[in-house]
Amino acid sequence: MIEISASILSVQEEKSLKTFYNLETAGIDYFHIDVMDGKFVENNTEDIMRKYAMEIKHVSNIPLDVHLMVKSVRKYIDEYLDLQPKIITIHYESGKNNILENIRYINENNIKSGISIKPNTEIEEIYEILPYIHQVLIMTVEPGQGGQKLIESTLEKIKKLKQYIKEKDLEIDIEVDGGINLNNIEKIKRIGADIVVCGTALINSEDYKETVRKMKQ
Ligand code: DX5
Ligand code: ZN
Repeated sequence: MIEISASILSVQEEKSLKTFYNLETAGIDYFHIDVMDGKFVENNTEDIMRKYAMEIKHVSNIPLDVHLMVKSVRKYIDEYLDLQPKIITIHYESGKNNILENIRYINENNIKSGISIKPNTEIEEIYEILPYIHQVLIMTVEPGQGGQKLIESTLEKIKKLKQYIKEKDLEIDIEVDGGINLNNIEKIKRIGADIVVCGTALINSEDYKETVRKMKQ
């Protein structure tokens, strides 16, 4: 069954704890932590994401799925190690030269490593990294903010990757992130996603339990 990673980017600060509690009881599988440094992308969410991630660790056992949209990758991996996330995903576009080094560092800390690609990066570019990682995060919007519309042309990459994983018999999850809602989730599941990130469509919905149930069915 598909797993749901709830992006908490659009959670309102004054009701964050209550929101985290409601998401947990709604049956989400991960909390998706969107860390932005104001350099790799324009927005900066470092402080608020750190605060939210710590709050979640205090009140919940749901694992953290950390998505680093940053230039200084190693610095932010270090910042999240103490919170023991289940997954840390770094961007292929952040620095191709030291990517394997950063992956090894994440793996050595017993955290699953993921590589994310932006909408304009071809999936073939990361094929040679696949044996070293646990997950690929395919961005279906430009990274930087929640609430955008899914870019349809990115879906082709999910199909290609699914096929390649099968051919090479790799053990890799495909996570899909950006603009996913109840109208398009069916298609994304069908073409092979293992985990979908859901931000505004879930956080702004009336009934979290009902939304998660519909997303998973
Ligand atoms: C975009 C982030 C996503 C996004 C998800 O840069 O990586 O996780 O905020 O939010 P929605 O579901 O609203 O697109
Ligand atoms: Zn994300």
